[in-house]
Amino acid sequence: MKQRSIIEPFRIKSVEPIRMTTREERECFLVEAGYNPFLLRAEDVLIDLLTDSGTGAMSADQWSGVMRGDESYAGGRSYYRLLDTVRDIFGFRYMLPTHQGRAAERILFSTTCKSGDVIPNNTHFDTTRANIEYVGAKAVDLPAPEGLRPSEVHPFKGNMDVAALEALIHDAGADRVPLVMLTITNNSGGGQPVSMANVKAVRGVCSRYGIPLYIDACRFAENCWFIREREEGYAGKAPRDIARELFSYADGCTMSAKKDGLVNIGGFLAGNDEKLATQESRLLILTEGFTTYGGLAGRDLEAMAAGLEEVLHEDYLQYRIASTGYLGRHLTEAGVPIVQPPGGHAIYIDAAAMLPHIPPRQFPGQALVAQLYLEGGIRTVEIGSVMFGTTDAQTGEATTAAMELVRLAIPRRVYTQSHIDYVHEVVGDVYARRDEIFGMRMVWQQPPLRHFTARFEPLKERARA
Ligand code: F0G
Repeated sequence: MKQRSIIEPFRIKSVEPIRMTTREERECFLVEAGYNPFLLRAEDVLIDLLTDSGTGAMSADQWSGVMRGDESYAGGRSYYRLLDTVRDIFGFRYMLPTHQGRAAERILFSTTCKSGDVIPNNTHFDTTRANIEYVGAKAVDLPAPEGLRPSEVHPFKGNMDVAALEALIHDAGADRVPLVMLTITNNSGGGQPVSMANVKAVRGVCSRYGIPLYIDACRFAENCWFIREREEGYAGKAPRDIARELFSYADGCTMSAKKDGLVNIGGFLAGNDEKLATQESRLLILTEGFTTYGGLAGRDLEAMAAGLEEVLHEDYLQYRIASTGYLGRHLTEAGVPIVQPPGGHAIYIDAAAMLPHIPPRQFPGQALVAQLYLEGGIRTVEIGSVMFGTTDAQTGEATTAAMELVRLAIPRRVYTQSHIDYVHEVVGDVYARRDEIFGMRMVWQQPPLRHFTARFEPLKERARA
C-alpha cells in the first residue's frame, strides 16, 4: 500500500496572523537592518526560521498548566512535578531549574572547571564554548570526521571521535579534564544525531579515566528518535525508554527546554552527585533564584514538565523528523546542496557549494540569507565566516570558517506543510538564479559574537579570481 502523508498530529486552536509584505517593502527593511536578519523586526518576517529555540507552540495541556502553576516562593507543587518528570525521563536525582540552557552551563562550568582545564565535546554550541572560556578553560571540538563532510550520508554524523578523545585525555592529563560533554543532537554540526553506541563508547573512555560525562540535552527527544529509526536493536522501542538508557550512561546534563522541552523559556541542570548539586545550588540562589524555581515562574515549571512528556510522544516525533526531512528532500530534488542527511531541527544549506563564485571573505552564507528574505520574507541565519570568522582590528586581515552554511531552523508545531512548501519554492527560485547573486561586505562589527549586530552592504560586482 502506498505510504500515506504523515500529518501534523494536532489541530490548531489559536492562530497568530502573518503580515504579508511586498518585495519592495522587504528591500527597505533589509537596508534598514544592515542586511542582518537579527536586526529585522519579527513582524516584517513571513516565515521565521531563525531558530527553533523558544519559538515552539505550546499545547492546550501546557496552557492549562500555566493556570495551575504554583507561584509559591519555596517548595511549590510545580517544582515537584518537574522534579518527578526529570527523574523519570532522565534518571538523575538532583535537578536545578534555570531560566534557559546557558544559565545551566554557567553554573556547571563555574563550579567544576578552572583556568587551564580542557573540556571536550562532539561540537560545543557557542554559549557552551563561551561559558567554558569565561572561566579560563579550553573548549575542544572532537567531531567524527564524517561530521565535517556536508554531502556525505552517514546515520550518526553527530558522533564524537572516540580515539581523538582518548588521545586528548592522554595528552592533557585526566586531572585537567573535569568533564566530557556530548551534545545531542549536534547543533553546530548540522543537527546530526549521536548513536547509542557512541554514547557508550564515550562513557567507556570516561570511566577508564574517572571523568564525569555530561549531556547537552537540548534536542534529546529528536536524537532518541533517530536512534530508534537508524540503530540496530532500537526499532519500535519507546522514545522514553531510549532516553532512559541514553542518560543512564551520563553523570548529568544541561538542558535548554526552549527546544525539546516545548516551552518558550526554561531549562535545568541535573546530575547524581549530591555534593556537587549543593555547590551548584549556591550559585543558582545567588544569580538565578531559589532552588525550587531558579529564575522561572511556577507556571513555566508546570509547562516545562508537560512539554518534556509531550515531546516523547511517538506521533509527535514521527511528524517532527518527517517534516524536517520533507523540506530536505524537496531542496535536494531541486538540486540545492544541503548537509546530508537532514538533521532533526533544521536544514543547513551549503552556501559555499551553492555560490562557488562568492569567496568566503565575501560571506556567501550572508548573501544567501539576504536573498531568501528579499525573495520570500524567510528569515534564516548564517553559520559560517560571519559567525565564526574574525577580522584583525589592526591589519584588517580576516579569518574564515571551515564551512559556509545557512540554517533553516524549524520551530516546533508552528508551521504547516504549506508553509514548508512555500519555503522550498522560494529557496528553489533563489537557487535558479544563483549565478546573479553577489557577495557582501561587512561594514560594521562588534566582536565577540559579531554576527548578532554586524552590518553589511551588498557588493556590486563579482569577486575577481
Ligand atoms: N546547547 C545547544 C546545543 C544549543 O543549541 C543552545 C541554544 C544552547 C545550548 C543554549 O541554550 O539558548 O537556552 O541558553 N541554541 C539556540 C539556537 C540559541 O538557535 O540554536 P539557551
